[in-house]
Amino acid sequence: MDNFINPQLKETSDKSFTLVHPIYNQTYHSINGALTESVCVFISAGLNYLVEKNNHKINILELGLGSGLNAALTLMFVQQNPNTTVNYYSLEPYPISTEIAEKLEYWKMLDDVNSKSNFLKIHSSPFDQQNQITEFFTLEKSRTNFLEYHSKEQYNLVYYDAFSPQSQPELWTLEAFAHLNTLMITGGIMVTYCAKGEVKRNLKQCGFLVESLPGPPGKREMIRATKQKDN
Ligand SMILES: C[S@@+](CC[C@H](N)C(=O)[O-])C[C@H]1O[C@@H](n2cnc3c(N)ncnc32)[C@H](O)[C@@H]1O
Repeated sequence: MDNFINPQLKETSDKSFTLVHPIYNQTYHSINGALTESVCVFISAGLNYLVEKNNHKINILELGLGSGLNAALTLMFVQQNPNTTVNYYSLEPYPISTEIAEKLEYWKMLDDVNSKSNFLKIHSSPFDQQNQITEFFTLEKSRTNFLEYHSKEQYNLVYYDAFSPQSQPELWTLEAFAHLNTLMITGGIMVTYCAKGEVKRNLKQCGFLVESLPGPPGKREMIRATKQKDN
């Protein structure tokens, strides 16, 4: 396959690996624990929160797929909660190769017997088509930039996992969140590790109810934002 980037691996405080993006020169996760951060921000405050509110058919949009850690944790959650179906859509203009993904060895830290083969399928499955990874988990990957992404789908959960506002300011603006709003159902939520004041203000101006929740290690807060009304 062509057009892959070649990020370096970096070990984080909880012993899980993350990657360093060769263009943005940023780590894909917190150095205070990649796995811990993903579980706290995306699984606990996002997926588990919706499932506990009795949502069992969930359309997830992720910005961007990166190492595949959020996707792998979501898949494992679905394996352990078989009454939940997830259609996972992930954007990634800079995909990594399956060879790099294999070096992350996330399956060694995941409590799921199928996690190695499922994790490799996340990376090896083709772009621009729906891939049935397991009975209750489909994956559609796209190389599209979030700001240019349009979809016939409406999402009830968004993993907003862009690089920080300092590195990618264009993804945290009023325009970006107005666009996000059009992709979501009313009552849908977005979760992000970022808790900057300006980000909260921009989300509120775009029709989101913003909650500040306790963040993962090294971060006092994170954001969960709920879309309040139809466009
Ligand atoms: C902070 S990392 C998150 C990685 C990922 N969620 C994970 O679990 O490893 C940001 C990711 O967004 C991707 N990205 C950068 N610009 C993007 C854009 N405009 N639209 C969608 N994804 C983008 C990067 O390549 C990178 O993989």
